[in-house]
Amino acid sequence: MSTRSALETQLAVVAGFDDPSAALEQYPTPPGLAASVVHDADLRGDVEGATVVDLGAGTGMLALGAALRAPTRVVGVELDPAALATARDNRRRVGVDAAVGWVRADVTRLPVVGDGDRQTTVLTNPPFGAQRDAVHADREFLAAAGAVADVSYSVHRAGSREFVASFAADHGGRLTASYAATIDLDRQFAFHEADSEAVDVEVHRVAWDA
Ligand SMILES: C[S@@+](CC[C@H](N)C(=O)[O-])C[C@H]1O[C@@H](n2cnc3c(N)ncnc32)[C@H](O)[C@@H]1O
Repeated sequence: MSTRSALETQLAVVAGFDDPSAALEQYPTPPGLAASVVHDADLRGDVEGATVVDLGAGTGMLALGAALRAPTRVVGVELDPAALATARDNRRRVGVDAAVGWVRADVTRLPVVGDGDRQTTVLTNPPFGAQRDAVHADREFLAAAGAVADVSYSVHRAGSREFVASFAADHGGRLTASYAATIDLDRQFAFHEADSEAVDVEVHRVAWDA
């Protein structure tokens, strides 16, 4: 297994969204955070040999991070065809050998099912709901994770731990680990006032086996 920082370096070549949609909250997951999520999941035995599904794959950052380890296959699910084209290009940039498939679909009507023969691990950095003024818009992504995954790792805004724990408990899951991170989001939408904004986030691991 490579180091977390080597993985971050490999992911640094991933290109961002060509024409990001504010409504879809198309913020790229920074390579440092993606490397941390994938490395932690791999150390816990949730990547090697698994089917890894990235919900809201966008540029493919999390999917490609997982593909750089030793999964059986990776599937990136994304609503926006332009983002999927970027993800495909990014696969070539990163130079991934693992089996990677891209599916254009709405996460709330997921056309993929969990792999019955081996573990299915979901990685997701969902929209937080900031643009729809919707508290916990990420609940639809968590529900989709619970429908297909044995284990999920999801990125949420800071202060979401109680929400994720209670959502998981109500949907047959169990919150098993959480950690905090800060991401620097570059200015990409007209309503952003600063060139870069530090956003506090949390990553939660849920085991959907309860
Ligand atoms: C915060 S971005 C994360 C992107 C990705 N991790 C990356 O680094 O590029 C959320 C992504 O979810 C996608 N998305 C939003 N709603 C969706 C839905 N209902 N079904 C599928 N994808 C969706 C957006 O288009 C966007 O690419």
